[in-house]
Amino acid sequence: MIVLALPGAAALASALAARLGCAWSELARHRFPDGETLVRLDADVAGRSVIIAGSLDQPDGKTLPLLFAADAARDLGAAEVGLVAPYLAYMRQDHRFRPGEAVTSRTYARLLSGALDFLVTVDPHLHRWRRLDEIYTIPAQVVAAAPAIARWIRDQVHAPLLVGPDAESAQWVDHVAHLCAAPWTVMEKTRTGDRDVRVALSAEEDWKQRTPVLLDDIVSTGGTMRAAVRALTAAGLPPPVCVATHALLDTASERELIAAGAARFVSCDSVPHPSNRIALDALLADAVRGMARARPGNPP
Ligand code: R5P
Repeated sequence: MIVLALPGAAALASALAARLGCAWSELARHRFPDGETLVRLDADVAGRSVIIAGSLDQPDGKTLPLLFAADAARDLGAAEVGLVAPYLAYMRQDHRFRPGEAVTSRTYARLLSGALDFLVTVDPHLHRWRRLDEIYTIPAQVVAAAPAIARWIRDQVHAPLLVGPDAESAQWVDHVAHLCAAPWTVMEKTRTGDRDVRVALSAEEDWKQRTPVLLDDIVSTGGTMRAAVRALTAAGLPPPVCVATHALLDTASERELIAAGAARFVSCDSVPHPSNRIALDALLADAVRGMARARPGNPP
């Protein structure tokens, strides 16, 4: 096995390789003056199981290098080519919200399924698609970040109350709350634009003695978290600790979240971000081992 790092994913690739006991190498990339990209594999991949590692945040600039690398690995004799993408892009466009729109989650799935043998990802945004195999035709292993998030909350937060900002978040909020033996609830969210979100909560009296932990899978503009922080504060709860599985937000949005009343913001390291406090490499390595064992021709 060998791990190849997509641009910006050296830390993930080296951590995975260390856990899997194999080598890793960075994918070399050259940008031509006309905007085209050349990728080069500096490691010998012939006969090996190649794991391409890298999150697919900011996906448009990463997807072509990924497809080129997967194709080159095959061309150079790789036995199989899998992808470990802790953050899987384009899952939120799972419906034609306005006439004529592309349902990009399906198109993207088709593209990756055509280039790879398997996929490992962390808590993909499953909403209207209930399972990845509704759109991905390759074996896909979903890693739940819940055990790692629950461990962090148990270590860091006194008397937590888990809160999800919308109905979809119930799936992971329930899981984490169960692992922390903590109460949980979800709010009601109405989105009126990319950056305009309202949320509502009916608070119970005994929750006011607890530390709210706002948990969402993706924090992008931070609008959802900010609205949720304000609603919790308005309901008389203490300043919440905000936790994201995939932190896509910029520094200004993180500052705005703190200004809105959050006690702190932390994230899993699925996407490299200054707020990363919760490591996922052990869970990812287990998933890769399981995936490799399950594939015909690989040792048990
Ligand atoms: C949507 O359903 C997701 O779970 C997140 O709540 C959403 O993507 C967060 O986006 P933003 O930070 O831009 O409000």
